Amino acid sequence: MSKYLITSALPYANGPIHFGHIAGAYLPADIFNRFLHQKGEEVLYICGTDEHGVAITINAEKAGIAYKQYVDNYHKVIKEFFDKLNIRFDHFSRTTAPEHYALAQEFFLDLHKKGFIKPAVEDQFYCVTCNRFLADRYVSGTCPKCGADNVRGDECTKCGEWLDPSKIVFPACKVCGKKPEIRQATQYFMDLKAFAPKLKEWIESKKDWKPNVKNKALSLIEEGLVKRAITRDISWGVPVPLEEAKGKVLYVWFDAPIGYISATMEWAKLNGKPESWKDWWFDKETKLIHFIGKDNIIFHTIVWPAMLMGQDKPYIIPENVPGNEFYNLEGRQFSKSEGWYIDTADFFSKYGVDALRYAIASNGPETSDSQFTWEDFQARNNELADSLGNLVNRCFSFIRKNFEGKIPAIASPLTNEDKALLESFKQGFDEVGKSYSSYRVRQAIAQAMALAHSSNKYINDTAPWTLRKTDLARCGTVLNVAARAIINTAILLYPVMPDTAFKILSRAGLTPAGKAPEFAPYGGDLNDLPLGADDTLLFAKIPDEQIKLEIEKLKSSANPQV
Ligand code: 2FM
Ligand code: ZN
Repeated sequence: MSKYLITSALPYANGPIHFGHIAGAYLPADIFNRFLHQKGEEVLYICGTDEHGVAITINAEKAGIAYKQYVDNYHKVIKEFFDKLNIRFDHFSRTTAPEHYALAQEFFLDLHKKGFIKPAVEDQFYCVTCNRFLADRYVSGTCPKCGADNVRGDECTKCGEWLDPSKIVFPACKVCGKKPEIRQATQYFMDLKAFAPKLKEWIESKKDWKPNVKNKALSLIEEGLVKRAITRDISWGVPVPLEEAKGKVLYVWFDAPIGYISATMEWAKLNGKPESWKDWWFDKETKLIHFIGKDNIIFHTIVWPAMLMGQDKPYIIPENVPGNEFYNLEGRQFSKSEGWYIDTADFFSKYGVDALRYAIASNGPETSDSQFTWEDFQARNNELADSLGNLVNRCFSFIRKNFEGKIPAIASPLTNEDKALLESFKQGFDEVGKSYSSYRVRQAIAQAMALAHSSNKYINDTAPWTLRKTDLARCGTVLNVAARAIINTAILLYPVMPDTAFKILSRAGLTPAGKAPEFAPYGGDLNDLPLGADDTLLFAKIPDEQIKLEIEKLKSSANPQV
């Protein structure tokens, strides 16, 4: 047995999250977590909201809402959305928790004591109209690296570069639009260069990282790591714990990843074993896996591991950082402010959660950008109805009608055809398991669905409806084999569609009781097992007209593209 600590990037409590976020950092992690549970591994899945930073203060100010009240609201909204999507964290915390402040300050002090954090005077933009230093996104302008216009001060949305706000070209104050002036101010800088050799050795030793993540991390080291300001002159954040730094707070990207640990501490406390977080974070056997989107690679492969390496306490460092590319909506980035988004409440009132999980996961941005399109969603939903839904329905309805609702016993010797189908599932569990383990969910789904297709073909070829009249014993055997194939398909797809898997298992007469079914071909006896009562359709097909309406609705809500 192994021990896994899984995290998903902490979403900013700065608005509702969308399917693009889900595809990058949450659904892949939830699938991995559920798969590990099926394998009987020890696993803890942690997340929470990232509640500091200038992205939040700007929007709260615009809305005229106090910062705390603003993040309280979005923490709740985001948590409810995850619940709706069946993303099952063991704990979902927030970076405004008291544990978090104390731990973030401890991290700072430890690095400071060892000389990895030092103060320095730097150029910073100052807005004379607004009377303040313009931290991060309070300034916008042209990216000094790729030349894109209208990028925010700390991160370029086009090339993904982590920017030094004072290097922005043609700067403008985000609040009043005026050109700021340069003034000098003291900030605290983290010496990332000091960690470069250790980081390089660590990353190079990782043979199973995704090439996009590994290459990006190594090229950042190759380009040369520079000192980075990790403090800001704003009032919202974790106060810098030094007398001489009064009024400064930690940069949001310094405090946020510490949230993975403080959330684990909170989880431990809530479970009545306050020290048990150490069993995860101080145990060299724990495999720490950070699921993120590609824009977070630098922080999870360079800055955060360096922060961990620089601590006195024996923290583990990440085992893997499965970073995903971007997931767009019909060719553009999801953007609520630009009207390019899907109203999730409306979506879920019409379509099922599992159809969405399936559509996103089977087309996830694992190695390159991918997108949600309404036509793709329709095709994938209808594919579920035609293959999986149809398989379950035709087999169990037939049993219900002709065998008094009990799976008939195997009453004739198994033929080569029967054995071949059952055998293909044994191999299927090996293959699908390897795909899930290596974060290739698209491949896992394709392999599992291929087995659903062969099960449908098996029913077509054996034609139980004919056998019923000619050879009842053989008919029963065929249905018994088909029922086992269906159960196995449900087990294989459980990480992606947990509700559907449970529905299928209980329809087959098994009582999964909410516990992840073991990831292995079902070994129990099915002879004369009474089917469960529920006989409703698993997936309804979506007609073309409805998809046309959805596309029109999206286009009419969109602001003209900039
Ligand atoms: O990019 C983001 O949405 C950040 N809030 C992710 C933070 S991940 C972690 F380090 F907390
Ligand atoms: Zn201004």
